Amino acid sequence: MTLPGRTLILAICLLVSAGTATAQSVVETRQQGMQLLQNSVNRLLVLESADPAAYRPREVAEQFYIMTEVLKSVSRLFPNSRASHGGRASPVIWQLRRNFDRLFIEAQRQSDKGFVAARRMGGARPAVKAALSEVVQTCTTCHTQFLRN
Ligand code: HEC
Repeated sequence: MTLPGRTLILAICLLVSAGTATAQSVVETRQQGMQLLQNSVNRLLVLESADPAAYRPREVAEQFYIMTEVLKSVSRLFPNSRASHGGRASPVIWQLRRNFDRLFIEAQRQSDKGFVAARRMGGARPAVKAALSEVVQTCTTCHTQFLRN
């Protein structure tokens, strides 16, 4: 594991605060968590397109690490309670719970693959790229099924 960077510490503090959250902030906190995921994806897309000489595998690994941790935390912010319904979360989440949870696990698995690949330095770029594209596909699949317009 890389040493957690400042972004990660902030991400974890943000999500830990969900433990004491009121009804409204459960929704807000998970939305902020989703924004953190978006930040990591955006950053990874930039890092991925760097010239070979400018490629920064350590930062790539860190972003995947953040994403895996945030996915773990965010996945716990859809409890089976009335307070948790709301935002853009489709009510279908609580009817097709297994499918929903499975997509979170899948996203974590792909993100972890990206982390491991980035740690292998040099030749791992195709593997990193593949993992990133799989993660993004999982985000999209879940949003297609479980995001309310
Ligand atoms: C298992 C399902 C699932 C996965 C996987 C998932 N999301 Fe989401 N996402 C949601 C749901 C549900 C919401 C709506 C949350 C709400 O409004 O309460 C959401 C909302 C969002 C939002 C809008 C947040 C806001 O401010 O309203 C963004 C951005 C986002 N997701 C990005 C991502 C990215 C990037 C990934 C992949 C790395 C991802 N999501 C993975 C289910 C998922």
